[in-house]
Amino acid sequence: MSTTTALEGAPAPLALSALYAPVAKEMEEVERILRDELRNPHPFVDELVRYGCLLGGKRLRPALLLLTAKAIGPVRRDHLVLAAVVEMIHTATLVHDDVLDEAEMRRHLATVNARWDNEASVLLGDYLFTHAFYLASTLDTVLGCRLIGRATNIVCEGELRQKGSRGNFELTEQEYVSIIEGKTAELTAVSCRLGALFSGASEKLAGEMDGFGRDLGIAFQIADDLLDVLGEERTTGKSLGTDLEKQKPTLPIIRALELATPADREELLELLTGDQRQPHLVAPYLERYEALDYARDRAASFAQSARRRLDLLPGSPARNILTLMTEFVVSRSS
Ligand code: IPE
Ligand code: IPE
Ligand code: MG
Ligand code: MG
Repeated sequence: MSTTTALEGAPAPLALSALYAPVAKEMEEVERILRDELRNPHPFVDELVRYGCLLGGKRLRPALLLLTAKAIGPVRRDHLVLAAVVEMIHTATLVHDDVLDEAEMRRHLATVNARWDNEASVLLGDYLFTHAFYLASTLDTVLGCRLIGRATNIVCEGELRQKGSRGNFELTEQEYVSIIEGKTAELTAVSCRLGALFSGASEKLAGEMDGFGRDLGIAFQIADDLLDVLGEERTTGKSLGTDLEKQKPTLPIIRALELATPADREELLELLTGDQRQPHLVAPYLERYEALDYARDRAASFAQSARRRLDLLPGSPARNILTLMTEFVVSRSS
């Protein structure tokens, strides 16, 4: 089966199971914590919670937290709990995001809003958010809870800013990057910061790991926005094309609008704001102004910047995998 990767010409997508090898045992523990925590005596709640959190997902954020930890020092129980917490937060944001995007598929299954309804999604998202904060508060230190609370707040702010910029095709590339830094990269950044801090890293090293997760997250979201245009639903396992549908200005569109002749710009704006927003009608403009290539280059450049930040770490299998992660996020097809 041929698949389209976000970064053309990149090596074959890296298998996640291979990437997680240095923390495979710990990842199993994280699954156990998620399973134990997300059990509920009420059958309807139990079904929803299991459906939303226990099935599928790449588990990228817990893996980042554990790999950063392992690259610096021993992985401890607190790391495992925090890894489960960031995955719960992430899943809560996805459950809510699918309501905003009216998405029908997620993790190869019907979304909660499609299978149940928006009300169930809102409540399940709330349940996952609150459980995550409760769980983080069970640690001896408030540090994890504080940092995750702050980061989640910025994630929500990012989603709100994105909601506020729907249909605003004046949005600049800088504003776009700032929004995705909030909605996506803040959580990958805090995952790496926590992994580092709970392994005894200095503030300087923890800051650098935060920067690594941040650049990686931005690259990841630019690649995700490319997949929304170019990907295949059976490979990504989620609804695609919703960015165009919901009039979200993503990097390829921003770039094409920036370079377009006045006539092309006007035509493209009509396509983006009209009733029938069809990908095949928008595609020629993206091609004409090499807007997809540009977005790929930007993603690759953030990934490279992430890679450089790993220089502060001593050599180890975990560090090697973090390096490979920077390739994975831009070459992924799912
Ligand atoms: C999807 O994240 C949301 C974005 C930030 C683009 P993932 O692609 O990590 O989702 P799962 O957890 O693997 O389903
Ligand atoms: C990421 O944006 C959403 C969050 C960070 C919550 P998208 O809307 O692009 O994510 P997908 O494509 O639905 O997974
Ligand atoms: Mg979405
Ligand atoms: Mg997307």
